[in-house]
Amino acid sequence: MDKQLNLLYFTATDSTAKVVKEVASGINEKFKEYNITLPLNREKELVFSSEDLVVIGVPVYGGRVPEFLVNYFGKIKGNNTPAIFIVVYGNRDYEDALLELKNTFEENGFIGIAGASFIGEHSYTTELGTHRPDKGDLEIAKSFGEKILEKLNNTEATLKETQLVVKGNLHYKERKSAMGPMAPETNEDCINCGVCANYCPMSAINFNDYSDIDIAKCIKCCSCIKRCPVNAKSFNDEMFKIFTQRLIDNFSSTRKEPELFLCNLF
Ligand SMILES: Cc1cc2nc3c(=O)[nH]c(=O)nc-3n(C[C@H](O)[C@H](O)[C@H](O)COP(=O)(O)O)c2cc1C
Ligand code: SF4
Ligand code: SF4
Repeated sequence: MDKQLNLLYFTATDSTAKVVKEVASGINEKFKEYNITLPLNREKELVFSSEDLVVIGVPVYGGRVPEFLVNYFGKIKGNNTPAIFIVVYGNRDYEDALLELKNTFEENGFIGIAGASFIGEHSYTTELGTHRPDKGDLEIAKSFGEKILEKLNNTEATLKETQLVVKGNLHYKERKSAMGPMAPETNEDCINCGVCANYCPMSAINFNDYSDIDIAKCIKCCSCIKRCPVNAKSFNDEMFKIFTQRLIDNFSSTRKEPELFLCNLF
């Protein structure tokens, strides 16, 4: 394969990054990385050519592509650029997220050649999708990448004739938050290390007071909670606890598995 491999992903608690990198490792050891998790990395316009191959990954939020990313995706242009779409969800469901990701990028000049949904530990709890993606998931991710590489090397057809069909409903699930605005609280164990503020994808945490969080900016991604070295951050809102318990009760007993989709040329 003579294309430049690129990874473009958002990841708040690292599961999307793990999957995307593993898919890429099945294609080529060398790649360019565009980690668009921090706001500073979501400003520049990006343009890819037909000589590029881009693996694009996002976590699923409410069965959709995270809303705050959609505007930025308008600034990322392809030029008949082949792309692989990956969504990672917390063992509930990914609903229309993969179709939405594919459509968004195909409207911007990308050509979908493959897509997949994978499972990551749920942002809200360690009791749903615990420790995923695990070894089995990552093996599937790597062999998916290898299969795409093999198909790309063997296909004679031009990518312009490509059609990729993935699961999802064209009338995307309505975006509605099951919980109102809220932000994590910080307890007295905080050692003021600054990790939470440095990693917050929305710059919602005050660098002069790590317990001061802008509720209007917080997207409940749980990066600050999962990264805090002393477990000083948590959502204590009653609605959050009820919602999370309901997720655990309804979705923790069945292990969901990755779903893979290849285009018609493969
Ligand atoms: C706001 C929000 C909404 C979510 N919605 C869903 C969902 O609809 N279905 C699901 O299975 N998981 C859902 N999750 C869980 C994430 O998709 C999952 O934990 C994913 O692995 C996070 O990826 P990351 O580690 O790359 O941030 C949601 C998480 C957050 C923070
Ligand atoms: S990561 Fe935890 S310990 Fe570090 S500043 Fe944030 S809340 Fe405090
Ligand atoms: S403050 Fe909100 S947006 Fe920022 S890392 Fe924590 S949960 Fe995510």
